[in-house]
Amino acid sequence: MTLGGPEPAAVVVRTVISRVTDPAPPGMPTTGPLVDRFGRVVRKLRISLTDRCNFRCVYCMPEGDIPWIPTGEILTFAEIERVVRIVAGMGVEKIRLTGGEPLLRPGVEELVARLVRVPGIRSVSMTTNGFFLREKAGALKAAGLSGINISLDSLDRDRFRQLTRRDELDRVLEGIAAAASAGLEPVKINAVVMRGINDGEIEAFLRWVREQPIQLTLRFIEFMPLDGSNVWTRDLVYTAEEILQQAQRIAPVVPLNNDPADPARLYRFADGRGTFGIIASVSQPFCASCDRIRLTADGKIRNCLFAVEEFDLRELLRGGAGDEAVAAAIRRAVWVKWAGHLINQKGFVKPQRAMYAIGG
Ligand code: 5AD
Ligand code: SF4
Repeated sequence: MTLGGPEPAAVVVRTVISRVTDPAPPGMPTTGPLVDRFGRVVRKLRISLTDRCNFRCVYCMPEGDIPWIPTGEILTFAEIERVVRIVAGMGVEKIRLTGGEPLLRPGVEELVARLVRVPGIRSVSMTTNGFFLREKAGALKAAGLSGINISLDSLDRDRFRQLTRRDELDRVLEGIAAAASAGLEPVKINAVVMRGINDGEIEAFLRWVREQPIQLTLRFIEFMPLDGSNVWTRDLVYTAEEILQQAQRIAPVVPLNNDPADPARLYRFADGRGTFGIIASVSQPFCASCDRIRLTADGKIRNCLFAVEEFDLRELLRGGAGDEAVAAAIRRAVWVKWAGHLINQKGFVKPQRAMYAIGG
């Protein structure tokens, strides 16, 4: 596959290290929920457990040598649990574990079991490539995992291999079945749509979910400029509108009432067979209702996928800072969150970190 074209330059991400003695920015509350300058409240934390992955999806990772985060810089389970306790004390209710591939982290089910017990946490879910679910789904369910999002960008073996650079379609399909039969709920399928690559498969995907004996929610995701090998161009973004047009060819489509904090707009087929969602991050940004922040595997808070500034917690966690100092650093990171990403603005620069190092 040849991809390429003019690409916005990547900006170096700046790391902010909070000092315990730093004064609170004017206007920032020092108690109560985690709130930003625009009044948005953070209720969800996405935690990347590792930047490593056994796949090499073209929209996420480069193919060649990757400078992985050194093991010693990756947060331990104890450090992650501490951060979760601290944010739960500030109103965060939902945790999503991501990667890279989170199931590459040995003993991940033990972490799940620890996080579901943290007071205030209502659910712990995961986003995975599905490769290890055949073996792991039961243990994850037993540990208390709620929902699982599985990436699946093609139902065609060759195209799956082209997109993930791995010939593992059947194994991922088995992983999806294993997740459902283990009772993980909901099971959502994420398909990133790239023009000229898998946009011709939207109808096939929808027909496939409509025929499934298990309840699956399929979500199409617009390709975002977060790939690791600089292939993103606006032309490759197959938009929500175009996706919807293809869906309408199968049967009439009805929009569902949406939870404003859900990035997916949900639809159902009027004939009652199947629902699906579209995540229109590029063509219809949902930044105004964003209620999430991210923790990278190396312990940095990112207040936006596209942030060019990160807030180092690891330094504090390993430097003997008390919970209040860690909480204050997180409050500051949230407070300065910008109104929204600038993909659709002139002069947009993509962040230096790609998706696999951020946590989707
Ligand atoms: N654009 C859109 N979605 C992406 N993902 C990874 N990289 C990109 C990108 N550049 C998706 C994966 C996964 C989720 C974590 O994010 O498909 O489902
Ligand atoms: Fe791995 Fe997920 Fe990135 Fe694919 S999208 S390379 S499965 S981290």
